[in-house]
Amino acid sequence: MHIFYHASSQTFHLSNDAVSYIMKVLPNGQLGQLYFGKAIRDRENFDHLLEMNHRPMSAYVFEGNLRFSLDHVKQEYPSYGTTDFRHPALEIVQPNGSRITDFTYVSHTITAGKPALAGLPATYTEHDEEAQTLTIVLRDAVIGAELELRYTLFADYAAIARSARFVNRGALDLHLTHAMSLNLDLPDSNYEFVHFSGAWARERHQKVRRLEQGIQSVESTRGTSSHNHNPFVILKRPETTEFSGEAIGFSLVYSGNFLAQIEVDTWDTTRVTMGINPFQFDWKLAPNESFQTPEAVMVYAADGLNSMSQTFHKLYQKRLARGYWRDRPRPILINNWEATYFDFTEDKLVSIAQAAKNDGVELFVLDDGWFGARCNDHAGLGDWVANPHRLARGITGLAQRIDELGMKFGLWFEPEMVNEDSDLFRAHPDWRICTPNRRASHGRNQFVLDFTRQEVVDAIYDMMAKILREAKVSYIKWDMNRCITEAFSAKLPADRQGELFHRYILGVYQLYERLTSEFPHVLFESCSSGGGRFDPGLLYYAPQGWASDDSDAIERLKIQYGTSMCYPISSIGSHVSVVPNHQVFRVTPLETRANVAHFGTFGYELDLNKLTADERELVRGQIQFMKQYREIIQFGTFYRLISPFDNSQFTAWMVVSEDKKTALVGYYKILNEVNGPYRRVKLHGLNPDFSYCVDGVSAHYGDELMEVGLLTTDGSAGQPIEGDRESKDFDSHIFVLHAE
Ligand code: DGJ
Repeated sequence: MHIFYHASSQTFHLSNDAVSYIMKVLPNGQLGQLYFGKAIRDRENFDHLLEMNHRPMSAYVFEGNLRFSLDHVKQEYPSYGTTDFRHPALEIVQPNGSRITDFTYVSHTITAGKPALAGLPATYTEHDEEAQTLTIVLRDAVIGAELELRYTLFADYAAIARSARFVNRGALDLHLTHAMSLNLDLPDSNYEFVHFSGAWARERHQKVRRLEQGIQSVESTRGTSSHNHNPFVILKRPETTEFSGEAIGFSLVYSGNFLAQIEVDTWDTTRVTMGINPFQFDWKLAPNESFQTPEAVMVYAADGLNSMSQTFHKLYQKRLARGYWRDRPRPILINNWEATYFDFTEDKLVSIAQAAKNDGVELFVLDDGWFGARCNDHAGLGDWVANPHRLARGITGLAQRIDELGMKFGLWFEPEMVNEDSDLFRAHPDWRICTPNRRASHGRNQFVLDFTRQEVVDAIYDMMAKILREAKVSYIKWDMNRCITEAFSAKLPADRQGELFHRYILGVYQLYERLTSEFPHVLFESCSSGGGRFDPGLLYYAPQGWASDDSDAIERLKIQYGTSMCYPISSIGSHVSVVPNHQVFRVTPLETRANVAHFGTFGYELDLNKLTADERELVRGQIQFMKQYREIIQFGTFYRLISPFDNSQFTAWMVVSEDKKTALVGYYKILNEVNGPYRRVKLHGLNPDFSYCVDGVSAHYGDELMEVGLLTTDGSAGQPIEGDRESKDFDSHIFVLHAE
């Protein structure tokens, strides 16, 4: 890994074994982008990569020069209006109304390691040798503003982390209305745009569309990263598959309003911009103030989507997630939500926990409904004190009873919310986000607290920390169940209201930071009505997230498949729930519900007391299986094999241990068939020379399994004979491979 600077050509080349990223100072002092892709050798001068032919009808920077136009030069962090007509990475409104800027190169530094971003989640290093960071300083002399572009190149990952920082060194107020984290101009548009979109209970479904001239984008305007779109997009070549071809993944380490935009121009060059959504954003930068954008991470893969995902998985698992639980297999939990909803007593909870303990579950999680006047979803949010009518000895008493069972105890909070029917709201009606003299829209009968205000964050912190200090709590599920409307803070002045959405998220991050620092052994799981805020920003604080409120095994195939494109298996909260399923009312076999949930953090969302003896036996086996293999599942190398988005009948994925001696292949069939054809799935990541025993019976060499494939054919319906694995609708199987 090295970051080269060639003074004679003012060229920067960031290069490790996998990737090269090259940029240079342009004739007008601004920064140009030359190349991002597979590693190429370094040289003193890459000027020949600049595309500066004359283009009729462009506007040109220098008088008499009909070549240098920003209209068709690839740029690093562009502004609009000085010959470039595409959408910019930055825009600053100045006191005289002008929005024109000209940031030119001043200096740069190259340092070992990676500095933190104050108040924001970001990837990090533990040792200086792991990465190098280049900081380029540019200045707009007219307004006295400084721009720092930061690039971190990791030694062991095909990844570059980027962010930008603005400093007002002038004497006048400035307003930042665009401050993107990343801009990447690519030389052609022969790409497909892949994004992960959906809705509540249908999160992160993969969508693929061809790039064409014009703008395509995904965004959030809801105050959270959202169920609707994820702050992760891919540009891939049309021929790229899971196993071959170029792909670039763009991931924003942020949990609020974002924009990921792709613009293809007249000459078929492609501009990717990603960052805080400029829509509704207006950040006042008074003299001497600075603004730090969130971080964006770009991953390049020359050999397919799995390779790109594996880079994200390892980087985010090891150098974005933090703390005690980062590298530890996750406890198998039971959560009472779908078992009881709001209808529980302490004894009922203990009986659910007791049954789960008997079957091998390690952690009992008490979900919504334990606090204030919360007996339904109309009251109580904001009052983080146990309801004595439900829990006579409070959380401390219940936690103690769970502890006596030999289990860990976990607790649900929704820290950012308030109900009108709560002591908190009665005492502080101005603490909710709403616009004066206008109706405050509710979502699930609740309102969003104004986390831009320090006293609000402090008050919630005090209530949560008190419980965590007093009771033995090992896990927190941090929920967030509505979007922000009527965005306005009673505390912010008029010319800072455009800062609300970002300041809100900074408040959320601050609360997470304080709680995770004071209670480092508590495992945090993020949640937002399921997967409404499943993003890298929260992964920094909470190493796992409840992936979706849809717990149906078949629905989960798409959700977990899409989620795995960026996020590691150790981060994907996945549980077995009852049938008929509470979201789609589908009946699937208990085996399949577990076979899907195994590829995640694993747990149960039901009352095991209500299962039959045979089902309990199965559950015990599932828990034993997870305990045996969770380290490999959660921290091994994950491969997607058959996509539920391309194939309506089958899904397959697998995970391989680091030493390649163990592999698990999850194979899922939707509808049963009669007398079906033989089917094979080609495996990946095995050692070709190892002989693998499949399900304890037959032995195959790794090369056979990878080149010929694993026979997945079952005893298809009709007339199965003895010894065949019987098949039914929604059937599945996890093949276990051990090298002999
Ligand atoms: C939404 C979450 O996604 C559910 O798992 C559950 O915690 C409910 N909220 C509780 O209100």
